[in-house]
Amino acid sequence: MTDPSAATVGSNQRKVFIKTYGCQMNVYDSQRMGEVLGERGYAVTQTADDADLVILNTCHIREKAAEKVYSELGRLRRLKESTGGALKIAVAGCVAQAEGEEIVRRAPVVDLVFGPQTYHRLPALLDQHARTGTAVIETEFPAHEKFDALDAPSSATPLKRGVAAFLTVQEGCDKFCTFCVVPYTRGAEFSRPAARIVAEARQLVETGVREITLLGQNVNAWHGEGLGGKEWSLGHLLDELSAIEGLQRLRYTTSHPRDMDEALIAAHGRNPKVMPYLHLPVQSGSDRMLKAMNRKHTAASYVELVARIRQARPDIAMSSDFIVGFPDETDADFEETMQLVREVTFAQAFSFKYSPRPGTPAAGHDAQLPEDVKSERLARLQTLLLEQQAAFNARCVGRTLDVLLEKPGRKPGQLIGRSPYLQSVFLDAGNCSVGDNVRVEITATGPNSLTGHMVDA
Ligand code: SAH
Ligand code: SF4
Ligand code: F3S
Repeated sequence: MTDPSAATVGSNQRKVFIKTYGCQMNVYDSQRMGEVLGERGYAVTQTADDADLVILNTCHIREKAAEKVYSELGRLRRLKESTGGALKIAVAGCVAQAEGEEIVRRAPVVDLVFGPQTYHRLPALLDQHARTGTAVIETEFPAHEKFDALDAPSSATPLKRGVAAFLTVQEGCDKFCTFCVVPYTRGAEFSRPAARIVAEARQLVETGVREITLLGQNVNAWHGEGLGGKEWSLGHLLDELSAIEGLQRLRYTTSHPRDMDEALIAAHGRNPKVMPYLHLPVQSGSDRMLKAMNRKHTAASYVELVARIRQARPDIAMSSDFIVGFPDETDADFEETMQLVREVTFAQAFSFKYSPRPGTPAAGHDAQLPEDVKSERLARLQTLLLEQQAAFNARCVGRTLDVLLEKPGRKPGQLIGRSPYLQSVFLDAGNCSVGDNVRVEITATGPNSLTGHMVDA
């Protein structure tokens, strides 16, 4: 380097920019990739402009999510050209797994393609690329190998995670809902051993983490050998984790209705560190659609399950995912979804138009619905769900809630935290700082947040 400023500390350190799409599991994976590369001398940067390596950690769940990657690759091509080709570009995550070398065919600017089970091999893949100068495509390795490698003692340099962190405990899915790519992109269900999870959680708490969200595509299908050699389910794991001193809150996502066992429901009732919020996707309120989706539960069994959960924890905030416009969905089927929403009432929810995904059974169904029907149903459902969300938030006004302070707000002296129900809460900092858990009287609500002021504990 001829640049005289190159002598300043760290100025010639290699930098990686990781852009994350999709679910929280990708957020977790991106952080672990940052850590793996950190051991190789890379610093994580917040922009592609000064990076030596850009990784797009991608999502394949709906067509729009997958297409975003290609428009980003178009932008990166120009950036790479401006560096004379020095910038390296990698595509990771679920699009990488699903499309493999097709990505390089469509976007020759890409140097590396690797699936979600291979990021521990990233340094080796970069070496291989440097050696051969050709695109490297790696989509093979199983989940247990990934976690074995990441759990090795040498990989014990966690990047700072802030106050609330994700921890993946389970990967993959054996459920094969007929609309979904996840069983193909993430592979078979795999649970990490309890001892490893507890060790990672302790490490996170040592760095200042106060709230941990356990992650898995079917997190409540987690099972494994517990610390005493007994078979554990997620409820036991939550109890074990809650014994970690300094850890104040536990959450888990995403759950499947079929895996909500009694031990887990009971944990909501008896364990104060398990937060009263549950994301439990139902997808549809029509038994005909649920059957066609291969969800293996009915609308009534879902409603009954929520009732049992509310019995254990009456104030629990329920959240869900919905798909409208699944092939052959009639107006009557859709009305059953609206009815289920009215019956259960949700504090929050995500809803999507059905998007046919290559290789999934439902994509080949003859009775695909027109876009305008899907749009109209989605709008009606979202109106109802937003009404329920606003009503839930409004019911919090006047209550005093525990708020874990996560970050500074935009206004000076303001802090943003989370309520037990996962709402963002804005308040004046007073003498408090990020990481504190404070009592806050809620005074007002906005569409997506609450405002309040601190009260004495
Ligand atoms: N494992 C979780 C969800 C994973 S995907 C579960 O079983 O519920 C997250 C959400 O994306 C799903 O709940 C579903 O609502 C939505 N989704 C998945 N595939 C989709 C598709 N092909 N079209 C539209 N939405 C989809
Ligand atoms: Fe996809 Fe169904 Fe598995 Fe969830 S349970 S990841 S929706 S196949
Ligand atoms: Fe998307 Fe893969 Fe997550 S498809 S939703 S990033 S598991």
